[in-house]
Amino acid sequence: MGNQEHFRVWRGDDETGDFVDYDVEVNEGEVVLDIIHRIQATQAPDLAVRWNCKAGKCGSCSAEINGRPRLLCMTRMSTLPPGEPIVVTPMRTFPVIRDLVTDVSFNYEKAREVRAFVPPEGVAPGDYRMQQVDVERSQEFRKCIECFLCQDTCHVLRDHEENKPAFAGPRFLMRVAELDMHPLDAAAEQGLNRKEAAQDEHGLGFCNITKCCSEVCPEHIKITDNALIPLKERVVDLKFDPLIRRKKRARRA
Ligand code: SF4
Ligand code: SF4
Ligand code: FES
Repeated sequence: MGNQEHFRVWRGDDETGDFVDYDVEVNEGEVVLDIIHRIQATQAPDLAVRWNCKAGKCGSCSAEINGRPRLLCMTRMSTLPPGEPIVVTPMRTFPVIRDLVTDVSFNYEKAREVRAFVPPEGVAPGDYRMQQVDVERSQEFRKCIECFLCQDTCHVLRDHEENKPAFAGPRFLMRVAELDMHPLDAAAEQGLNRKEAAQDEHGLGFCNITKCCSEVCPEHIKITDNALIPLKERVVDLKFDPLIRRKKRARRA
């Protein structure tokens, strides 16, 4: 027989809802998702929660625990303050479908807005060659499990619904940065300047490098330090580096 803990879980949809209290058994080694499942099994069979892998790899159990964006399956009960109520709410930045399940389609729309990798002309797939350092740089970004916790926590989106059309959010600015760093991406040859797109189409200027996105990333990706700041630096170079400006002017002439 484990301990009894007090859970406050948000129940409702996008229109209406409230907190519901549950006293529930907690055993050694359990994570918050185990407790949500126990509440479903014993007290609230209609409690909605999204999950798939229970291993921190599918990115579907994102929610907020005591106000902090977290994966339910990777948050051990032993890391939460004992004897205090545990408050579980859906991600605040996205519309609620029901209870802990949010509609994250905003993120899929933003993903579609980023132009895909453009293969280099005259090089067959399989003949691509890159320096190991370039492979490693993008490998970090490729660890993303699309949990959207970074999108949820970023204050540009979280507190300002009106910014959503103009701001892609950290996950997709990171994707733009990855493509811009890619030595084989031939977007420029097709007239697409990824740095200009980052600034003008994906809202890079909204980001004021608070690093909150990196702090909540379950894959520990250094989103701000390794993607957003370098991208901002390259955008600044594009605008203010006299050599780049001269080259651009010469190209226009
Ligand atoms: S660093 Fe930028 S993208 Fe990340 S949370 Fe802060 S404002 Fe948002
Ligand atoms: S960058 Fe990290 S926090 Fe953001 S969606 Fe990917 S895994 Fe989640
Ligand atoms: S259930 Fe897959 S990440 Fe939590």
